[in-house]
Amino acid sequence: MDRPLGALSGGQRRRVELARILFAGHGTLLLDEPTNHLDAHSITWLRGFLASHQGGLVMISHDTSLLAGTVNRVFHLDPGRAALDIHNTGWDAYLAQRDADERRRARERANAERKAASLHAQAGRMRARVATAVAARNMARRADRMLADLEPARRAERTARIRLPEPAPCGRIPLGAVSLTRSYGGQQVLRGVDLAVDRGSRLVVLGPNGAGKTTLLRILAGQDTPDSGRVVHGHGLRLGYFAQEHDTLNPELTVREHLAGAAPHLTDGEVRQVLGSFLFTGDDTGKRAGVLSGGEKTRLALAGLVHSSANVLLLDEPTNNLDPASRAEVLAAVGTYPGAIVMVTHDEGAVDALRPDRVLLLPEAEEDLWSDDYRELVVPAHA
Ligand SMILES: Nc1ncnc2c1ncn2[C@@H]1O[C@H](COP(=O)(O)OP(=O)(O)OP(=O)(O)O)[C@@H](O)[C@H]1O
Ligand SMILES: [Mg+2]
Repeated sequence: MDRPLGALSGGQRRRVELARILFAGHGTLLLDEPTNHLDAHSITWLRGFLASHQGGLVMISHDTSLLAGTVNRVFHLDPGRAALDIHNTGWDAYLAQRDADERRRARERANAERKAASLHAQAGRMRARVATAVAARNMARRADRMLADLEPARRAERTARIRLPEPAPCGRIPLGAVSLTRSYGGQQVLRGVDLAVDRGSRLVVLGPNGAGKTTLLRILAGQDTPDSGRVVHGHGLRLGYFAQEHDTLNPELTVREHLAGAAPHLTDGEVRQVLGSFLFTGDDTGKRAGVLSGGEKTRLALAGLVHSSANVLLLDEPTNNLDPASRAEVLAAVGTYPGAIVMVTHDEGAVDALRPDRVLLLPEAEEDLWSDDYRELVVPAHA
């Protein structure tokens, strides 16, 4: 392929970056979320490659089945204690070890608390008599030390409380498209796509990397124009667009400015409150969007939709980059959102949460009622 990187799809760009790293010939690979944006076929290939890789591998990933198949040591960064816990085991054994550690800590804490309480009670009784007052004080001190020596309880990792908008009322078919075509140079990406998005309906758009999914959503969102065909806005349409590469975020604006711009009717307090529930607090809100991590950009883009009253959401791979807890929040919000959703994803969990009524397959532009057979298209085969 002889194209500038900027002209590649999200998944194609990651594949080029991966190929450059995997075949650079160095012994140790450093991979940060390598499966984000990849289609099922590429993930299967990557799993096979990493499983047979002879050199070292240091990887950050939220893809737990990839971790289970590749790593033999796990470093867990515990934000509550600002400490790195090192486990010299594979993924499944690590999970079991963590679970056992948690239970041991809980047991030790309960024991120590029981003993300390009984020491304090005894000290209370002895304090009244002059002869035993000193012993009572020592006893109370011993009880306090016992509690202070306990390992701190693991603080639950903070989770965003992600919400989607309250949809404004709209007509029966808020969004449609007729015979959309789009080419880049000589390459025809969309060939006659027809769509009708019913109020409150769920459409999933599936297809391999480079199939034209993002191109379609950009056209539906009005960010790109088709070569022929047209997008039809129904009565009362309010669109909310979540872009795969976060191109709706301006890198120069701060987190706070973004939300205030997306929802100008909110007071400063309300802006702070929405940002807080998406886990932006204190100094975070003054950061420029350009310096945010992938997961933070995802959260900011989603926060911008909350007060949009959107009744049709166009979501282009909304679970990329999210930690497991935040991903679960997004999926729960998707599951209960009463408006219509058009979602592009390579994430089988996102398909399950959406419970699609219909599927659009690209590049063929075939639309069909949903059937669980289509789910196979997003499930990577295990290496
Ligand atoms: N600005 C552009 N100039 C030239 N080609 C482009 C441009 N944008 C996209 N393309 C090409 O159009 C095709 C479809 O891209 P698109 O981003 O829509 O794919 P996608 O289905 O979203 O893929 P992915 O799963 O990787 O996100 C790809 O082959 C891509 O390289
Ligand atoms: Mg895409």
